Amino acid sequence: MGGGTSSLYEYIDGQLRMLCAAVGVPPAGPRAGLGALLDPVGARPLAEPVLWPTDISDDHTPVEFSIACEAGKPPTVRILGERLAPQPGRRANLRAALELVDTLAGRFQLPLDRFHQVRRIFLDGDPRSDFGLWFSLVYRHTGALEPKVYFNPDARGRERAPGLVAAALDRLGLHGAYRTTLANGVRPGRLNDLDRFAFFALDLHDRPYARVKLYLAHHDADSDDLVRAARAVPGVAETAVRDLLRLTGCTGPLTGRPAVSGYTFVAGDTDRPSGYSLYLPIRDYVDDDEQARRAVFAVLDHLGLDTAVIDRAIDAVARRPLDEGVGLIAHVSVRLTADGAPGATVYLSSEAYRVTPPRRHGLVKAQLGSESWR
Ligand code: TRP
Repeated sequence: MGGGTSSLYEYIDGQLRMLCAAVGVPPAGPRAGLGALLDPVGARPLAEPVLWPTDISDDHTPVEFSIACEAGKPPTVRILGERLAPQPGRRANLRAALELVDTLAGRFQLPLDRFHQVRRIFLDGDPRSDFGLWFSLVYRHTGALEPKVYFNPDARGRERAPGLVAAALDRLGLHGAYRTTLANGVRPGRLNDLDRFAFFALDLHDRPYARVKLYLAHHDADSDDLVRAARAVPGVAETAVRDLLRLTGCTGPLTGRPAVSGYTFVAGDTDRPSGYSLYLPIRDYVDDDEQARRAVFAVLDHLGLDTAVIDRAIDAVARRPLDEGVGLIAHVSVRLTADGAPGATVYLSSEAYRVTPPRRHGLVKAQLGSESWR
């Protein structure tokens, strides 16, 4: 947890510098990105109360780190964040976010055509959700930035989310994508209820793999539901989904925070996604971060990915022993495609404001410790 007299920016920047060193990403870009995201509210002393109850993280720190690993490639450092206005509110935050889109576009010559094609679908009218736009700043080992923006499907009210998503996919030429996604990812009669659109995301760069990503949150899902959700993507092995759930102890029903499906569309995809990612909010299904670490390592080992870099990353961000809290390791996600190399991403909370105390389930813990993570 933070303390002393440091500001929000200083605290998170300290973690970010160490994280970049741990992962092998040049720090200048990420530090500048963090500065832009937190400008000007990052200057507030940490000791002051939370400015806005952002859902980026459990303690309302407006950023979350992640490390994305892919076989045979250097890992990337990513910053998920919400831009807050100094006098925050739904409208003011959205305005601040749109300013950041323009700033980034100007500084990095980002193509905004797709952003402009869909922005009005999500952002017209009075904001009805607590966030309008989130950012993910992805930094490669070369220092290159690949930004992404997330629209909130509920931005004009939850009841309109399916219509907005359908319209946005259509506008981007992804005809048929809506139907395929729903046919697999939504349990019969459960659209907008147990299965909800969580985010609609766009890569803001023009590399050939620039993506559109649609996220569905599955409340109270079990393994079969998630296997079905993955079937929207041809060739994704059912066993890969089951392995992930088994290795993390998340065989469900997942009654805490929901598992989330991410459907990826790249150039050439029209009526089907070509990538599937499964996000597990591991922090709700373990007692403490030591357990979360073991679960994440089991997944990385299974996929043949490097665990040492994640250990270094955890050390860089953690400001407390792992068994003295839960939620530092917030999520783990796995990317599954028919032919591509497997990838996994580990999400780390800054915990600038608060640490969630560990759950103490002595018996369960003793049992899990002996076998379940293998
Ligand atoms: N904190 C929110 C949640 O846990 C949003 C969020 C942050 C999220 N990082 C994420 C959701 C990664 C899914 C995956 O739901």
